[in-house]
Amino acid sequence: MTQHSSAPHAAVAAAQHRDWWRDAVIYQVYPRSFADSDGDGMGDLEGVRSRLPYLRDLGVDAVWLSPFYSSPQADAGYDVADYRAVDPMFGSLLDADALIRDAHAHGLRIIVDLVPNHSSDRHEWFKRALAEGPGSPSRDRYHFRPGKGADGELPPNDWESIFGGPAWTRVPDGEWYLHLFAPEQPDFNWEHPAVGDEFRSILRFWLDMGVDGFRIDVAHGLVKAEGLPDLGSHNQLTLLGNDVMPFFDQDGVHDVYRQWRIVLDEYAGERIFVAEAWTPTVERTANYVRPDELHQAFNFQYLSTDWDAAELRTVIDATLAAMRPVGAPATWVLSNHDVTRHATRFANPPGLGTQIRTAGDRDLGLRRARAATLLMLALPGSAYVYQGEELGLPDVVDLPDEVRQDPAYFRGAGQDGFRDGCRVPIPWTRTGSAYGFGGGGSWLPQPQGWGELSVEAQSGVAGSTLELYREALAVRRARRDLGAGDAVEWLRAPEGVLAFRRGEFVCVANTTGESVTVPAHGPLLLTSGEVGEADGETKVPGDTTVWFGTAR
Ligand code: GLC
Repeated sequence: MTQHSSAPHAAVAAAQHRDWWRDAVIYQVYPRSFADSDGDGMGDLEGVRSRLPYLRDLGVDAVWLSPFYSSPQADAGYDVADYRAVDPMFGSLLDADALIRDAHAHGLRIIVDLVPNHSSDRHEWFKRALAEGPGSPSRDRYHFRPGKGADGELPPNDWESIFGGPAWTRVPDGEWYLHLFAPEQPDFNWEHPAVGDEFRSILRFWLDMGVDGFRIDVAHGLVKAEGLPDLGSHNQLTLLGNDVMPFFDQDGVHDVYRQWRIVLDEYAGERIFVAEAWTPTVERTANYVRPDELHQAFNFQYLSTDWDAAELRTVIDATLAAMRPVGAPATWVLSNHDVTRHATRFANPPGLGTQIRTAGDRDLGLRRARAATLLMLALPGSAYVYQGEELGLPDVVDLPDEVRQDPAYFRGAGQDGFRDGCRVPIPWTRTGSAYGFGGGGSWLPQPQGWGELSVEAQSGVAGSTLELYREALAVRRARRDLGAGDAVEWLRAPEGVLAFRRGEFVCVANTTGESVTVPAHGPLLLTSGEVGEADGETKVPGDTTVWFGTAR
């Protein structure tokens, strides 16, 4: 394999503009579930490569790939055993190289997932730490501690795993180790210099391979409060996301990113970092994207907002206000591999959160999802699209327990961890094995009727969700001003309706169930549903978004 030079790739440079990431639409590929080239029922890198023309034609700027590294798959690849190897299930390093090259030839950027908070328990370092025993230097690269209680039979502190149960597991020699997620995902000790050295080297490895950036998994978790203090009487679940925790969003984490930024900036080609940082407020999220740190952070406050005009306006304003002082673009996201797909979230009553187990009113959910997408794509900044949302896929809420794989489901005793429902392999064709996903079935069963939602079934069909995404993304590409800037000008609008102007472009989103009549703010450019026009007014049906302006 030849290594890439660090020069920008010609096709990318031609197809994309400076500061490309500030308004980029980035498509998340979940490799297990995108396309399977070898018929083992599991998606792979070659499958992704074969579908690059689809992504190019969809009109996205970049592709973020969830982890494909060597991993025992205790958490679907977010448990990495070797950060520099591709798991045979997904292919090889040669496949990764081919994918990166082909993507660039198609004018698409590639962002890979980096998992620095924890490794797999099969990582060499952890295996050594276990083998070498208490007191050995290899234990210091993780958080090993003696337990509490007369015989050390109690965990060292009261932290709980995000997936349920204690955040500590005891090993046969009596010590405990920390894992904020599954026991198969021991947390690294970021106070140890070797950890930082290793990750800077891993960054270079993938930068040399030619990737355009990294999505940083659990970016808010690396640094723990000194002494690993107890939470005390606080209930962890109510605190999560509402407060700064001793294991999340500690100020020290920013030193790590300042060092990473120095590494990244040695490489040409405008490569970027995007943080998965769950913080209590958008203001704290903004700390991750200060000029000498990361480029973007996911906007989970936006993702967690119900389909409600007032709430949406509040979070949009708060986001733009928080990002402005640090000069980072806002980001917008509705779905990913960890939450119930938004077509299903919006099919259910508000206030249920992001892990939902009921199908709700599917037609309503789809109508709102389409409207929410047009709203999102009209906002300044960068937007993230999760594979299959362009098909309007609902979450698969009725997977039988025996096929589920999400570790959170099992640790949460079936009360949480419904993440398999958004990970079902996507349908490409109306019929055929796994609806075109691959020749050997699919690792999670696809529901009946999935083929009617396929790329094949929707392509060229006016008004289909796929064509709506294609049109919206084509408009965004043609008029870059849509994603540019850091402000929207709100217009007066009836209750439950959002209306804002961006130059001569106007977006009106009706989040109510009733039609509203608004002035026609210019030529009708795109709508998420049928609208009526008469006498200079536009009738916007319930749960519909309208774009006014010209395609340019
Ligand atoms: C992130 C990933 C999620 C994973 C967890 C632990 O939140 O998005 O899928 O389970 O980190 O790595």
